[in-house]
Amino acid sequence: MDKFVINGPCKLSGSVETNGAKNAVLPLMAASLLARGECVIKNVPNLRDVATMTRLLEILGAGVAFKNHVLTIDTSKLTCLEAPYDLVRTMRASIYVMGPLVAAHKKARVSQPGGCAWGPRPIDLHIMALERLGAKVALEHGYINASAKRLRGAEIIFPVSSVGATAQTLMAAVLAKGETTLKNCALEPEVVELAKALNKAGAKIQGVGDRTMTITGVDAIEPFTHRVMPDRIEAGTFAAAAVATAGRVKITKCDPSNLSAVLDALTVCGADIEIGEDSIDVQGPDRVEPAHVVTREYPGFPTDMQAQMMAVLCRAKGTSTVKDTIYTDRFTHVPELRRLAASIRLDGNLAVIHGVKGLEGAPVMATDIRASSALIIAALMAKGRTDILRVYHIDRGYEKIERKLRRLGADIKRMPQ
Ligand code: EPU
Repeated sequence: MDKFVINGPCKLSGSVETNGAKNAVLPLMAASLLARGECVIKNVPNLRDVATMTRLLEILGAGVAFKNHVLTIDTSKLTCLEAPYDLVRTMRASIYVMGPLVAAHKKARVSQPGGCAWGPRPIDLHIMALERLGAKVALEHGYINASAKRLRGAEIIFPVSSVGATAQTLMAAVLAKGETTLKNCALEPEVVELAKALNKAGAKIQGVGDRTMTITGVDAIEPFTHRVMPDRIEAGTFAAAAVATAGRVKITKCDPSNLSAVLDALTVCGADIEIGEDSIDVQGPDRVEPAHVVTREYPGFPTDMQAQMMAVLCRAKGTSTVKDTIYTDRFTHVPELRRLAASIRLDGNLAVIHGVKGLEGAPVMATDIRASSALIIAALMAKGRTDILRVYHIDRGYEKIERKLRRLGADIKRMPQ
């Protein structure tokens, strides 16, 4: 197991490229199970979660090759229809294989994910939607057993907007007999990207990018080639790091159009931001202004940027608030930020952050992907040495973050823990 050792404070400066989006590539990898043949996914980030999904596809019998950010998945000879506990517990997105397996191979046995570091994270909507499409679903010995001779179209209304349930149901409904209407769909760009990729592969999805989508089931999904969109959360994390360190960072190969809520919040903090076609130039202020952030579904402020934003606000001149309405318990970074001398009070799903003049280095523990990146941002601001333990969390979602930060002038090393 590795740790990061960061000596701060530093002012980030220079330019950094964005990789492909983790949360877009994982459902696309699962969607390859709908086709029989070779799918090619380009601009794939080299991440631990991609390796976990690769392992899962290999267990199912797919042939997977990954080179130069291009993933080739051959699904012509699946031999197993089970996603085991060992993989699902390390990456919840493994459950994405359930819909495609039932739709294309009539059954699936997928481990129930259980809780995650910051709360229960239910999957009831995934199951409800599959049942509405005619699958028989039984929960047995910690596994979900789902089966259907052929799924059939239905009207499904999601009571809350869910990225995972929308993506899962889309992947199942494309092969269902007849028409499916999905209401209150998630609008996150990664879901839109999945729908577009499925349409390129022969699916008939109307209303892509709307809250209501209508899917006319087809008999086959063709093997597809798709280039993954840039990772908006990685881009947002570097923008936040620039603001936190009063630095100047140009983030390239990104899509600024899906980062508006984050860039607006950083502008409130005093950042000077110039938006290009596929780049963002961020100049951080000498002293951060307080801000009040509430996470919402897209196009609102993303929960996946909440922890990083909180790190930035630790050095604001005044009191800020961050409220998470998507995951009301997603605050495992708070006690760790406090170890770095941040002043944060938690009141339910509301964090009240009293800005301090400076943070101090200390040993801290990474607890999930985004909490880890918040700790990196805080460590870059803090005076002295910070050791961030358990960085395997960050390797799940950020490709070579330490190399990218070093090129921006950070003093960061990866060492055995
Ligand atoms: N929800 C339910 N029932 C369900 C599914 C979701 O009640 O069956 C609730 C959740 O508890 C939550 C809300 O719906 O309150 C939204 O959750 P959603 O289903 O949208 O989240 P997800 O699909 O499990 C994805 C991302 C997360 C990101 C969320 C929210 C992937 C692989 N994961 O999770 O990303 O936080 O959407 O945008 O796409 C990350 O990258 O660090 C990460 C955690």
